[in-house]
Amino acid sequence: MTVRPAGGTAADAVPLAGHVAVVTGASSGIGRATALRLAAGGATVLALGRDQARLDGLGKEARGPGTLLPIRLDLTDDTAVADVVADVTARHGRVDHLLHSAGAYASARVDAASLADLDAQYLANVRAPYALTQRLLPALRVAGADGGADIVIVNSTQGVRAGAGTGQFAATQHAIRAFADSLRQEINADGIRVATIHLGRTATPRQETIYAREGRKYAPALLIQADDVADLVDYLIRLPPTAEITELHLRPAKKSY
Ligand SMILES: NC(=O)c1ccc[n+]([C@@H]2O[C@H](COP(=O)([O-])OP(=O)(O)OC[C@H]3O[C@@H](n4cnc5c(N)ncnc54)[C@H](OP(=O)(O)O)[C@@H]3O)[C@@H](O)[C@H]2O)c1
Repeated sequence: MTVRPAGGTAADAVPLAGHVAVVTGASSGIGRATALRLAAGGATVLALGRDQARLDGLGKEARGPGTLLPIRLDLTDDTAVADVVADVTARHGRVDHLLHSAGAYASARVDAASLADLDAQYLANVRAPYALTQRLLPALRVAGADGGADIVIVNSTQGVRAGAGTGQFAATQHAIRAFADSLRQEINADGIRVATIHLGRTATPRQETIYAREGRKYAPALLIQADDVADLVDYLIRLPPTAEITELHLRPAKKSY
């Protein structure tokens, strides 16, 4: 077990060198900021996204001492996911940290909502993280038995209490929260922690689009920053294996809404 030096921080106790991290949604927003942070902290980061141009940009921006490897993958494509997981397992043999940040968002009151949007959000927000986690469990267990592993799921305040017009998205967030809570009880014994972060509005491309749709002026400085979430993930995964944070709620301190 890693022991924190007297007076040291969690980062002193658990350095990321030699760790393998899988980050979904790494082409944008929170996933992007966290992938860069973990690579800068020394991890080998497998950065998953769909947009090739943005993945290329991410690869150029990454700073060591770790390594950032962009991988193009649609997480709703079961065959492609199976291929990537097989490759990751063959090359790296272990996954120490899995961050789920990919997802889809649509809003509409029930009167006007489309069932196609409901299906798309279920696929991206529930089925995809479930399936990826399921396939990566053997590699997570390898790391779990060798110092500990983490699964961190970026959820929303809508995963705690649903507001009007967000019934579909909120249902997916409640579902993935339930998955996290159930999974934790199954795999803590294997040295794998499971954390859910319930986020308020965070300054990312998604939030900019939401503000535009709401006809409101976008003021990113008033929101949580993607780097704030990266700080939190970095802290969570560096906690010594004697402690687990199961759930965190992060709100914009400046309360712009
Ligand atoms: N921003 C907020 O205010 C906020 C608040 C609460 C919770 N959250 C949660 O935080 C997470 C990240 O949000 P964000 O604001 O950073 O979003 P974002 O900027 O819209 O980025 C979403 C990411 O998900 C990826 N993605 C979506 N569908 C995918 C699929 N089928 N396969 C692979 N990748 C897929 C996108 O990839 P491509 O762009 O490459 O297609 C992109 O990298 C989400 O789960 C969101 O619900 C965000």
